[in-house]
Amino acid sequence: MPVFGLGTWRMGEHPEQFERDADVIRAALDLGITLLDTAEMYGEGGAEEVIGKAIHGRRDGLFLVSKFYPHNASHNGVIEACERSLQRMNCDTIDLYMLHWPGSVPLAQTFEALHELQDSGKIRDFGVSNFNLVDLEGIPADDQARLGCNQVFYNLLHREVEWEVSDWCQQRSVPLMAYSPLDQAGSVLQSPAVADVAARHDATNAQIALAWLLHQPNTVVIPKSVRPERIKENLAAVDIELNDQDLADLDSVYPAPEQPIRLGMR
Ligand SMILES: NC(=O)c1ccc[n+]([C@@H]2O[C@H](COP(=O)([O-])OP(=O)(O)OC[C@H]3O[C@@H](n4cnc5c(N)ncnc54)[C@H](OP(=O)(O)O)[C@@H]3O)[C@@H](O)[C@H]2O)c1
Repeated sequence: MPVFGLGTWRMGEHPEQFERDADVIRAALDLGITLLDTAEMYGEGGAEEVIGKAIHGRRDGLFLVSKFYPHNASHNGVIEACERSLQRMNCDTIDLYMLHWPGSVPLAQTFEALHELQDSGKIRDFGVSNFNLVDLEGIPADDQARLGCNQVFYNLLHREVEWEVSDWCQQRSVPLMAYSPLDQAGSVLQSPAVADVAARHDATNAQIALAWLLHQPNTVVIPKSVRPERIKENLAAVDIELNDQDLADLDSVYPAPEQPIRLGMR
């Protein structure tokens, strides 16, 4: 799985935006982005449709990630949701298909359907999103180490995942996919502490926030932007190597949690 992708939440929400959003995705692919993160929820299928337009004729080499609603997590619900997503994206396979957040359908049903989708080649891998430790432990035992990912709210200002979820995932080699890595354009972009580190690398705050996440073990980032110049800026974070001093300075202002805390959610 590539370590850097483009998020697509808020894309494809209005038909009049479709062309612009498809152009943004095409520009991202031209810049070298190979992972696209979406969900049936985004624009109620609109974001997947936009992706379908943008990747027409250039599906090869891309890593497509999508997610299904918890209310579609029954056996037939997952199979049918996947069919709809494939149709909207106009492709034969989703590379990573995830349950968007924990729901009430027994997970054994959900994972049975995911296995069937994998066996038929409609998905290459499956995973979960917004899963705390208690949720992860509820996954059928054989599937725990087979998870392709846990996509979680994770950024410099929100390190809840480090309390217990990160360790569980590392022990099973399950990648973390950090969503809202820029805290949805939050205060990390203005943070003086981040700016100090950024100055040492001739970088921007956004780049340092992303480089910090990329420094964490087995972690993928999926910042969203509809501006190609920002996508280019963000992608350059993969070349920034933070040193021990940078990491210590960031830790001192934005420490890891020291007491039990559940994952945040956006
Ligand atoms: N699994 C889940 O439950 C879940 C939840 C939330 C998000 N996600 C996924 O994660 C992706 C990313 O998270 P997100 O969209 O919530 O937030 P984000 O990527 O942290 O932040 C996006 C915001 O930052 C701005 N931005 C991007 N690059 C910037 C830069 N270099 N400088 C200044 N501003 C910049 C964007 O504005 P412009 O677009 O105007 O540039 C947008 O307002 C989503 O798109 C979605 O695919 C998953």
